[in-house]
Amino acid sequence: MKVLVVGSGGREHALCWTIAASPLCDALYCAPGNAGIASDAQCVPISPEDIPALVAFSKQQAIDLVVVGPEAPLAAGLVDRLGEHGIRVFGPTADASVLESSKAFTKDFCVRHRIPAAGSLTFGDLDRALAHLRRCTLPVVVKADGLAAGKGVTVATSLESAEAAVRAAMEDRVFGPAGDRVVIEEFLEGVEASFFALSDGTTTLPLAAAQDHKRAGDGDTGPNTGGMGAFSPPPAVDAVLSRQVMETIIEPAVAGMAAEGRPFRGVLFAGLMLTDEGPKLIEFNVRFGDPECQVLMARLRSDLLPALLACADGHLRHVDLRWSDDAAVCVVMASRGYPGSYRRGSPIRAIEDAESDPDVVVFHAGTAADAEGALVSSGGRVLGVTATGADVASARSRAYRAVGRINWPDGTFRTDIAAAGAAVTP
Ligand code: AMP
Ligand code: GLY
Repeated sequence: MKVLVVGSGGREHALCWTIAASPLCDALYCAPGNAGIASDAQCVPISPEDIPALVAFSKQQAIDLVVVGPEAPLAAGLVDRLGEHGIRVFGPTADASVLESSKAFTKDFCVRHRIPAAGSLTFGDLDRALAHLRRCTLPVVVKADGLAAGKGVTVATSLESAEAAVRAAMEDRVFGPAGDRVVIEEFLEGVEASFFALSDGTTTLPLAAAQDHKRAGDGDTGPNTGGMGAFSPPPAVDAVLSRQVMETIIEPAVAGMAAEGRPFRGVLFAGLMLTDEGPKLIEFNVRFGDPECQVLMARLRSDLLPALLACADGHLRHVDLRWSDDAAVCVVMASRGYPGSYRRGSPIRAIEDAESDPDVVVFHAGTAADAEGALVSSGGRVLGVTATGADVASARSRAYRAVGRINWPDGTFRTDIAAAGAAVTP
């Protein structure tokens, strides 16, 4: 089979690393990929947003399966356009991607299908939104309706900051049209977890859960980021809780989307708050998480490719996946300054020293080769140093030992990734 992975981050490197190991895969391409992905796949310089070029490449190369990493091309209809040309693809159509691209849709959808989620109201009118805020208890959560590159959510502990968030979205339009409607939502208390399941439109298959670390600084301080590290499995998500998440959130969502004429095919990522009243949905994403994908792929024992094909073809009921009992921890190394401004082009050395441990793999995100072919940084999140071990504590110490071997003076990382998970003895 010829496979094309779309995207250029750590998530896509983890997907390429996994798919390249499949005996079914004869040729693997990644658009556009990065310097690390280049050792697992042939990188092709096409942007994930350039749908006509991706379709043309897939036809020309007779690609058997396209695997879409990020959300933007999904919401823009990449899967629909590939489908029109008879190209098989793993990922939801634009109609089904609305579970991520519109929080307002998803809030109403959860009410229609009795999926437990934070209570909320959606506003398209600034004055009504501001009037509603004055009646809310604090903290309150303000969310831009549309895709805002992970920056559209404000957890406000004062009325002033809640009002500022509403005005930024609706008056100053800092998110463009994505902020024309805002969702004002009840604050949920508990432990967060990311839960992943595959769907072929009707059948669902649970994957695994992970825990992300969204803030830039140790102790969950500083600005929100794409994710500074992850571990799997989270101690809070045992078999009983997984069953509960499947029955109360994933299965009703997949059945509801099918009933509404937008069958969901792909990976459904439920961002959960584990509350005293049980797991509640914070948000759906319609793709793998980054860096959650890195720890999931490190724990996967089965061939992923047949499962992705089965989602595309509607045969998921015939698929089962095996997971390692080992834990995995991914520590993200980012450019100093991220998520604010940072410099690109600083040299990164000794990745091979980090990978001299057979239980360590370094997934690349923002890396490139300079004119001489040496590895340099080229983005905010740069490396995902991923290790496995018998438990979270041993995977964690192995991951940090590997981080210590990488020679990249311009890089920073959190020192407390998976610390909470490691403190729980299984
Ligand atoms: P998002 O950008 O949608 O992933 O949200 C960013 C973060 O905001 C989440 O990971 C949560 O920590 C927090 N958050 C979002 N919604 C809520 C909520 N209803 N209650 C508490 N925290 C929330
Ligand atoms: N790590 C969170 C996300 O991928 O959205």
